Amino acid sequence: MRLFFALWPDPVLQSELAAWGRLCHAACGGRVQQADKLHATLAFLGEIEVDRYAALCSIADTIRAPAFELTLNRIGYWRHNRIVYAAVTETPRALTELAHSLAVRLAAAGFRTEQRDYVPHVTLLRDARRAPVDVNPAPLSWRVGALTLVETLRREQKLRYQKLQCWTLAD
Ligand code: 2AM
Repeated sequence: MRLFFALWPDPVLQSELAAWGRLCHAACGGRVQQADKLHATLAFLGEIEVDRYAALCSIADTIRAPAFELTLNRIGYWRHNRIVYAAVTETPRALTELAHSLAVRLAAAGFRTEQRDYVPHVTLLRDARRAPVDVNPAPLSWRVGALTLVETLRREQKLRYQKLQCWTLAD
């Protein structure tokens, strides 16, 4: 199974982010991500044997982290993969620590994890033709209160995300 830990916005925030995606699309083309697919990856796991699923859940069980506020106030563009994304100018310490403690636990349990610094982002467009310029939507506030384990499913060329389990962050 192909898995990742994510921060999953509620449907209202997802539709606000989808509106950002449409604004960007007008400026730089590409494929708009559907509202109900919009999320921020916390830790990408890739292909995992089914019998390792319980170990993943046990790791998430041990995470003790506070809920936090994320202010999405920036649109970015990665030329190498032509992704346009929503991001923050300042990553809250609570999120940096959450990503770090999850990555440390995953690595200790033998899961392969991303070596680069964690850059929180919500992918809005794929295959964008250019960087969006002069697209400055009003910032969005995101109260992040949970981490979610998600499975990527691919059927007949269609990609779907299935939320499997959620862990609440303390308030
Ligand atoms: P992306 O949106 O920047 O492409 C499900 O595929 C999620 O995992 C997406 O948010 C995707 O990020 C992320 N993802 C896919 N492949 C990845 C990789 N090799 N390393 C880190 N994140 C990855």
